[in-house]
Amino acid sequence: MKIFLDSADIGEITALCDTGFVDGITTNPSLIAKSGRNILDTIAEICSLVDGPVSAEVTATDFETMLSEGQKLATIAQNVTVKVPLTRDGLMTCRALSDAGTDVNVTLCFTAGQALLAAKAGAAFISPFVGRLDDIGHDGMQLIAEILEIYGNYDSIQTEVLVASIRSPMHVLHAARLGADVCTIPPNVIQQLAKHTLTDKGLEAFL
Ligand code: G3P
Repeated sequence: MKIFLDSADIGEITALCDTGFVDGITTNPSLIAKSGRNILDTIAEICSLVDGPVSAEVTATDFETMLSEGQKLATIAQNVTVKVPLTRDGLMTCRALSDAGTDVNVTLCFTAGQALLAAKAGAAFISPFVGRLDDIGHDGMQLIAEILEIYGNYDSIQTEVLVASIRSPMHVLHAARLGADVCTIPPNVIQQLAKHTLTDKGLEAFL
């Protein structure tokens, strides 16, 4: 399973990319706003730090503007993946961009039916939000299982399942056990994955 970092913070990205286990980055308008920087500059800098895919999200909601924003984002670097929301206009934008050879990540997915349409629209990645489903009393990981089952039924579907809205190491492990293609993980959860109190205690005793 590939590990993407869910962050637009250059400091965090640099520190974790140095570990060698980060395969890509996902950003969204909220993460860019938190960084306090301009979206185009931020994406360009992130792309220069990572070889893998870097998701950059459009902010428009209508097809024409989304498409022109997506085309602009795609020119920033060869490893930009344009992120669009799972709406009718977003899916149309996905089709147009992927037909032109641009990888698209369709985000804000909350049902298997939406994931099926994103695959039909040629998405390179589908991003189901597990944490936000859990938040409202649904089972986020059940959605991942359903999407993997459906995609697995068709050789023609090449869309990768990118598990997003990860809140804990358990989400990551569950996604890996189900065979998800990618997890995009916030930096604090990556730190939690690496840490164990018995590792720390053992090391202290050894030293
Ligand atoms: O990249 C989008 C996604 O991971 C958002 O997570 O925690 O805001 O639901 P969250």
